[in-house]
Amino acid sequence: MTAPVSVRGLTVRYGDVLALDDVSLTVPAGRVTGLIGMNGSGKSTLFKAVMGLVRPDRGSVSVQGADPGLARRNGRVGYVPQSEDVDWSFPVSVRDVVMMGRYGHQGVTRRARPADHAAVDDALRRVELADLADRQIGRLSGGQRKRAFVARGIAQGASIMLLDEPFAGVDKRSEATMVRLLRELADDGRTILVSTHDLQALPQLADEAVLLLRTVLFHGPVADALRPENLALTFGLDVLAGGEPAA
Ligand SMILES: Nc1ncnc2c1ncn2[C@@H]1O[C@H](COP(=O)(O)OP(=O)(O)O)[C@@H](O)[C@H]1O
Ligand SMILES: [Mg+2]
Repeated sequence: MTAPVSVRGLTVRYGDVLALDDVSLTVPAGRVTGLIGMNGSGKSTLFKAVMGLVRPDRGSVSVQGADPGLARRNGRVGYVPQSEDVDWSFPVSVRDVVMMGRYGHQGVTRRARPADHAAVDDALRRVELADLADRQIGRLSGGQRKRAFVARGIAQGASIMLLDEPFAGVDKRSEATMVRLLRELADDGRTILVSTHDLQALPQLADEAVLLLRTVLFHGPVADALRPENLALTFGLDVLAGGEPAA
């Protein structure tokens, strides 16, 4: 079977900055894979490479055996960007954001048909945002905003979901709702890749973990990822002294 996401020898540079160096990674279906790494370790760049939004310097990315840009345009991949990458003042409602997931289904006219409205309503219910559908996206809490983007991916029919720090700035209750939702989406057979700084929640969230520091330091069971020697490699020695990983 073709892997949902396969990365081979991926190197990405921004000018002089080496953001990813020889990353190889296969992300499986039906599981939640946690992506762990300190700021600047290349997590967002890896997501953008899987979306076909940054060009590899070397190596390759394939999404269900296809070019990542093509897979994105075909709606195979849902993306919940980092908060910093979104303009929250944009005058769109929650429903509008979720409807964007249907554009690929609507042809050039972009006229929503009953099936599109039904898919949007279903997705809003799934993420428990049906009550807030008409609110401007910026007037939601951090956790609700993230769920709106997950709903966009669901409405789109994405079988792969990429979530870039969906728990940053989100309260614990919202985080628990999101964890439950991601577990359900994985149980449906979707591929979930999610970056997080919350190591405490990792065992509840993820089936496996990838430790990233420009390259993959470790990929395997969560319990092994959380061993002190692996965390020391990923975050530096401070975590061993009981400090929080540098955010
Ligand atoms: N558009 C960009 N231009 C220049 N450097 C960038 C750009 N985006 C990211 N970088 C740099 O690439 C490295 C990896 O960044 P990023 O992928 O955002 O890491 P993370 O998401 O883990 O914080 C960092 O050194 C960052 O400063
Ligand atoms: Mg990032």
